[in-house]
Amino acid sequence: MSSAEQDDHAKNDGLINIAGVGDHIALSGNNEEAWIDVIQKMDEVYADHVRYQLELEQKNAELEDAQAFIGSVLSSMTDVLIVCDTRGKIQQANDAYQKLSDSNDQELRGKSLQDIFAPCSANCVSNLTQQLRDQERIEDKELVLLDGEGNESLFSMNCSARYDHEGRFVGIVLIGRHLGELRRAYKDLDQAHQKLRNTQQQLVFAEKMTALGRLVAGVAHELNNPISFVFGNMHALRRYGERITKYLKAIDSGTDTVQLVQMRQDLKIDRIVTDINPLVDGTLEGAERVSEIVQELRRFSSVQKETQEPFNIVRVIKTAGHWVSKSVTSKHQFIYDMPERLELISRRGPVHQIMVNLLQNALDVVDGQIDAQITIRSEETESDISIHVIDNGPGILDTAIDQIFEPFFTTKPLGQGTGLGLYISYGLAEELGGKLTACNHAGGGAEFILSLPKQSA
Ligand SMILES: Nc1ncnc2c1ncn2[C@@H]1O[C@H](COP(=O)(O)OP(=O)(O)OP(=O)(O)O)[C@@H](O)[C@H]1O
Ligand SMILES: [Mg+2]
Repeated sequence: MSSAEQDDHAKNDGLINIAGVGDHIALSGNNEEAWIDVIQKMDEVYADHVRYQLELEQKNAELEDAQAFIGSVLSSMTDVLIVCDTRGKIQQANDAYQKLSDSNDQELRGKSLQDIFAPCSANCVSNLTQQLRDQERIEDKELVLLDGEGNESLFSMNCSARYDHEGRFVGIVLIGRHLGELRRAYKDLDQAHQKLRNTQQQLVFAEKMTALGRLVAGVAHELNNPISFVFGNMHALRRYGERITKYLKAIDSGTDTVQLVQMRQDLKIDRIVTDINPLVDGTLEGAERVSEIVQELRRFSSVQKETQEPFNIVRVIKTAGHWVSKSVTSKHQFIYDMPERLELISRRGPVHQIMVNLLQNALDVVDGQIDAQITIRSEETESDISIHVIDNGPGILDTAIDQIFEPFFTTKPLGQGTGLGLYISYGLAEELGGKLTACNHAGGGAEFILSLPKQSA
């Protein structure tokens, strides 16, 4: 039976179907109770409607609150946020991006992602959707966005896939941070760092030159020794040469044998023959020593960073000691308490520079003392070599002990100290992978300890 037929049937049977109620209420003639039932049912239906309406309104208000909350979060974001569908068409963009692109939400909606990025990023952008289908997230991608006037701005983009409640891929979300400011800040920092390094290098060089100025007398003395015996040997060789030439001429002119024997004795030719080799060797040795000193000087004054090499630190310490020692006139004694050889692999120039600074300081503080004495003692462990420079001067002032490694800290009179010696030596020791420390020696005087790894890193 159709519903129309059913209704007819019900009417015929004295039944009324109340639309919306769904139930059939039996009416028989003017049965009042039936009407009351109907009215009660209608009241209930109405009350339900009102309740549903209230719930709906409440849900709506909650939804609006949630939307307002999300909206406020999005608009307070300083990073740009762009939401697209699977075809790369913009669905929504936050205030930061709207401001950058100088467009409103309406204008942006439906726009293709390709059009908002610079051509250099176009390739990458066109593949984004495809890539995000396969992987969930792409991080820190550097992409160039166009602003409202078509200018390019570099952004670091994090791109993620977006899924609906059933887990279907429905689009992508891009969140980008402007890199311009960060980059500029990094660049400025880098430049400042570079400048600082240059200044520091110039400082090291200037300090070296000052030290060299003081060392000139010592170096000159060092050079004087071998040069004077090279000169002495050369004079002897010249005399020997004259005598040999005289003897050879006599042979050439046919002088008789008896005379020649006498001449050989007078001219001490046999002594010349035995003397000549040691003389030449000595001269060569002197020339080599001069050449070594010149090389050390060049190394000392060089601005270039040397490469690491194996060398005997004892030799470097003694050369530094000679230079420094000969540069002062006051009486003093250097005691080297160390073996003849202590090998390490490091950079010779900086080690020499540190030693010159430590020994020069030690000599400065004992200046004028009758018992002036500087002991240089070595200690060796499996991995390190440490050199102790101990003087018998007044020791480091209590008020200065925390400052001696600071740049420009000096207790010397104006014009006599730059206050850079220890600061630079400290830096050099660190560069070599070692360290430089100072304390007052238990028996009086100061003690500086330079520790170096046998093999610099
Ligand atoms: N052996 C030492 N005994 C006592 N004080 C020392 C000793 N060596 C250094 N000092 C203190 O440390 C200070 C800083 O030394 P540093 O070598 O850096 O500079 P400077 O010797 O004063 O000047 P520069 O080395 O540039 O000629 C010295 O002025 C001195 O006060
Ligand atoms: Mg000094």
